[in-house]
Amino acid sequence: MFNRDGKDDNNYNVENYEFIKKYSPTVGSLIEKEYNRQKNNIELIASENYCSEAVLAACGSCLSWKYAEGYPYVRTSGNKGRYYGGTEFVDELEEYCCNKWREVFHTDYHVNVQPHSGSQANFAGYKALISPGDTILSLSLDNGGHLTHGSSVNFSGKLYNVIFYDVDDKGYIDMEDVRKKALEYKPQLIMTGASAYSRIIDFKAFADIAKEVGCYFMVDMAHIAGLVAAGEHLSPFGYADIVTTTTHKTLRGPRGGLVFGKPEFAKKIDSAVFPYAQGGPLEHIIAGKAVCAEEALKPEFKEYAHQVVLNCAALCDEFIKLGYKVVTGGTDNHVFLLDLSEFPFSGRDLQERCDENGITLNKNAIPNDQRSPMQTSGVRIGTAPMTTRGYKEDDFREVARRIDKIVKELAKEKEAEAK
Ligand SMILES: Cc1ncc(COP(=O)(O)O)c(C=O)c1O
Repeated sequence: MFNRDGKDDNNYNVENYEFIKKYSPTVGSLIEKEYNRQKNNIELIASENYCSEAVLAACGSCLSWKYAEGYPYVRTSGNKGRYYGGTEFVDELEEYCCNKWREVFHTDYHVNVQPHSGSQANFAGYKALISPGDTILSLSLDNGGHLTHGSSVNFSGKLYNVIFYDVDDKGYIDMEDVRKKALEYKPQLIMTGASAYSRIIDFKAFADIAKEVGCYFMVDMAHIAGLVAAGEHLSPFGYADIVTTTTHKTLRGPRGGLVFGKPEFAKKIDSAVFPYAQGGPLEHIIAGKAVCAEEALKPEFKEYAHQVVLNCAALCDEFIKLGYKVVTGGTDNHVFLLDLSEFPFSGRDLQERCDENGITLNKNAIPNDQRSPMQTSGVRIGTAPMTTRGYKEDDFREVARRIDKIVKELAKEKEAEAK
């Protein structure tokens, strides 16, 4: 993994692309270019991270050659539910992976480690709890939620009747609005979790409302799962009926998803993942997820997650000192949104200009955004990847000053163009 200055003490990636180049010069060279882009840039995308070479190696292992449709664990029928022979080692691996994830989150929930992505995990979570046409009460994409939380262009918005709760004037999830809408619309499911929300989510308050109206409660903790694992954010376990996550964001593992559920939903979750949503599990990725869980159990991971939060607070504070508006006025986690609504350029313009300057971040809508989703009035900034590379608070303060310089130049140009 690269350090703060882009130096890589481990030759794993270089050996890998050099090896690939011998067979496919095109693919090998593109991987090399991407490796160098990642190495040389300051990566601030809140949903990304650098997993360890051990995770990468597991994902690139011979397990990619194995089919293992079904599940390793003993079902109520007493059968091991696999549809293929030769699964004895992947059976052991998958059970080991499940046990490690329960250990990470100190939970006795059932866990399915097969979802290929966070979206697949959410698809399965909904399927396990509700039926098409049922009502979901959820946070909208433009207020920080995810596509799979009910966007009209996604399966979630097409299969289910979705009502959105709002954020308040400061950008915080408005729990009064959640309760009001839950009582009014009587949803079958309340959903929370976010892709661009910088504050602690009060899972107990959500669970209380779900209980009051007699509906299910599901949490998508994809962004904050690493913080939950390290005790830096409240845990949804014990409150939610189903908890979904990705493993590649703050958890710093392979790309993929997990679905956890209270034991009574175990069978429904499993059949929602396979055979309903997916075919054969990616056992190589499951191996990467198992290595990731082992890493998340180490004391170093706790230190890492704590540093992610400290770094985010420092970066956000520096922007505020420089006179910027931040949605909610700060951050409690690994991410925040810079509000650019008063600038003569969009989030997209800043994203593109940062790209030209070796800083990677993404445009993002802010609450009540007046610009289109392709332009936006905000950028989303996260500290998980650069913390992996060893950045501390002062490094992030310097990053804020570099972005401020870019902003000032861009603003000057746009103002001159407008004259
Ligand atoms: C909150 C949340 N849930 C789900 C997902 C979907 O994950 P994937 O891209 O693996 O489908 C994301 C992705 O960014 C996310 O932010």
